[in-house]
Amino acid sequence: MRRGAIVRIAALGIAIAILVTLVAVLIQWLPTSASKQMDRIEFVYWFATAISIGIFSLVMAVLIYSVITFRSPPDDESDGPSIHGHSGLEILWTVVPAILVIAVGVLSAVVLSQNGRAGTNPLTIKVIGQQFTFRFVYPDNGGIRSGELVLPVDRNITFKLSSLDVIHSFWVPAMGQQEDMVPGLDTSIVVTPTRTGIFPLICTELCGLGHATMRAQVRVLSQPDFAAWVKQQQAGGSKGVSGAAVFTSAGCGGCHAFTPAGTNGAIGPNLDRVAVDAKRVGEGTAAYVRESIIAPNKVIAPGYAPNVMPQNFGSTLTAKEIDALVTYLTTKQ
Ligand code: CUA
Repeated sequence: MRRGAIVRIAALGIAIAILVTLVAVLIQWLPTSASKQMDRIEFVYWFATAISIGIFSLVMAVLIYSVITFRSPPDDESDGPSIHGHSGLEILWTVVPAILVIAVGVLSAVVLSQNGRAGTNPLTIKVIGQQFTFRFVYPDNGGIRSGELVLPVDRNITFKLSSLDVIHSFWVPAMGQQEDMVPGLDTSIVVTPTRTGIFPLICTELCGLGHATMRAQVRVLSQPDFAAWVKQQQAGGSKGVSGAAVFTSAGCGGCHAFTPAGTNGAIGPNLDRVAVDAKRVGEGTAAYVRESIIAPNKVIAPGYAPNVMPQNFGSTLTAKEIDALVTYLTTKQ
């Protein structure tokens, strides 16, 4: 091969590499990392991306150079020269990719194992998935229940995941880790938040009509702020059950619009109009609301489908919580 050709291919390769690197770096493809685990996952991404840029640039440079240099004139109908092959080159392009793929595999395995380690004394939080909401229970903090996921920064947290109905999936994009929530199976995942702020938690398993609305807020607080939040929640818990708190923690707003709660879900009937709906079927408002929570299939409001609302709120909520919820839904209008 001529020296001029090698120089030209190298120049072409460097130009392509610069261009592709700019596309990789200038566009924000991933959310800014908010956890130790995401930092490690990003490292794997960049490692694989760097390898891909190298290989892509080399292949494209040789291809473009060949297409331009060796193209035949329009009137050339003759066969090309017969070439047997090049054993050295074939060994090279088999061995080098094999080494690179093994390197990516080993690095991924190391990161996967590191990301699964909770260390000593992790904070355990139970996450319960249900069509179409997430609920959070804090067994290490007196069993606080919350509809918002509040976390302390710089602490290893083990999430114990479960589902009451179908398969859901727990994913906080900024924190990288993702795990399915499977009915009848206890799965878990470790996250160590590294910065405070508000992040979305998203269900990433197609779980029914309201799948797209199955989201929750993750709020990462400093450790003193988290301790204060825990205290405040525990104090609230001993004062009796608030209907507004049950509405939030049971995830009603994911499917229902209710002005006092500021929710606008449209999967289920608008709860601002429960009195009208009750009258239509000739029931008292409170009795109608209670029945709709415990046995939602008994009366289906026109325009809505049966079996969308979970059938098990009668067993997942306590009697006190149902009472509070009924009061909240019937007296605020
Ligand atoms: Cu739960 Cu999608």
